[in-house]
Amino acid sequence: MKRMDKSFKVTECVTWVGKIDHELQTFHGDELSTQRGSSYNAYLVRGEKTALIDTVWTPFAHEFVENLKSVIDLKDIDYVIALHGECDHSGALPELMREIPNTPVYCSVNGVKSLKGLYHADWDLHPVKTGDTLDLGGGKVFTFVEARMLHWPDNMMAYLQDEKILFSTDVFGQHLASEAMYNDLTDTSSIYYEAKKYYANIVAPFSKMAKLKLQEVAKMNLPIDMICPSHGVIWRDNPAQIVEKYMEWADDYQENKITILYDTMWNSTRRMAEAIAEGVKRADPEVKLVVKSTSKHDKNDILTDVFDSKAVLVGSPTVVNGILSSVAAELDLIREMHPVGKKAAAFGSYGWSGESPKVLAEHLEKAGFEIVCDGLKVNWVPDEAALQQCVEFGANFAKLVK
Ligand SMILES: Cc1cc2nc3c(=O)[nH]c(=O)nc-3n(C[C@H](O)[C@H](O)[C@H](O)COP(=O)(O)O)c2cc1C
Ligand SMILES: [Fe+2]
Ligand SMILES: [Fe+2]
Repeated sequence: MKRMDKSFKVTECVTWVGKIDHELQTFHGDELSTQRGSSYNAYLVRGEKTALIDTVWTPFAHEFVENLKSVIDLKDIDYVIALHGECDHSGALPELMREIPNTPVYCSVNGVKSLKGLYHADWDLHPVKTGDTLDLGGGKVFTFVEARMLHWPDNMMAYLQDEKILFSTDVFGQHLASEAMYNDLTDTSSIYYEAKKYYANIVAPFSKMAKLKLQEVAKMNLPIDMICPSHGVIWRDNPAQIVEKYMEWADDYQENKITILYDTMWNSTRRMAEAIAEGVKRADPEVKLVVKSTSKHDKNDILTDVFDSKAVLVGSPTVVNGILSSVAAELDLIREMHPVGKKAAAFGSYGWSGESPKVLAEHLEKAGFEIVCDGLKVNWVPDEAALQQCVEFGANFAKLVK
């Protein structure tokens, strides 16, 4: 091993050549929080010929190509496979392709569009479809499986026969920086939280397609010893577990959980939220209950809480005949997740006109929630009687969604 070499041998013929990004705190601009960092997984696969699957995010392009040179003479890369055009995986292609401009790049039909649109480069692109194969010789044959809209039109998976490895692109991935590389060597609850957060925030809008794709892949009966996603740990120990989880998540997932969300200017709506939580607990001591402020807590973690809840209670004071902006923004994120089969109700404090519960209910209905009861509004600061009303409101809601 040369000094620069940061590669990692996965099997005799598969070497990880990606980048572990411990510092990443946000992704997609500031749209997605990534408190546990991430990794951009790229793999060299060697048969008689050699293929490189994916690269890394643009800021690490130079580091990636230099490291790759310490692993392999770039001229010995016979094929590049771009499973997804997004720049967290294709970002080093321009620098790499400058060195090996004639190397064919295999991608999906939609990958041709995204790679051309993103890089405007004259690469030798070879579009492939589900069922197409690429034979590296020595028994190493890839079968491609398109994963359209998981989460871009161009996503594609590659199954390596013989080795029984599924290179699954963003599917089954997690924004998680783990030097340990494998699921069995990394804290399980962190992996599952990040996989679920990834699903809720990135994949959930396309759950219908995810469900169909998972069923299609299941019917192919591919024996899978290992799943190598493009972010986070490699699923080596019982890789079927994450496929099964995805099947549950793609199927209108919910747990026995209620999430209460609110924002407040002068704490009246917060006090309402706390009293409502008290009521929920009294009426259903077994329900998982989460209370979060849309302005103080992380918006993507909140979304993850809503993803596995059966019901939500959302509160905002009335502000200029409407609701607070952090609540509106969170409800917009929630709408993008396309929640199905979840129930909701609204509440809030007001001074004179008191529109917030009605406005919240409209947002919630538009997002796909079923409103199960009238909203609760309290004039100015809640007194003891109003707090008691909140407790009863929470208890009634818990019973309605039980
Ligand atoms: C900037 C601002 C705008 C407001 N606009 C309205 C309004 O349009 N209608 C209304 O009923 N109350 C309005 N209020 C009054 C608040 O809804 C009221 O003070 C409420 O108790 C605040 O709840 P909070 O303590 O949860 O922030 C407004 C208050 C502020 C500070
Ligand atoms: Fe992606
Ligand atoms: Fe990605």
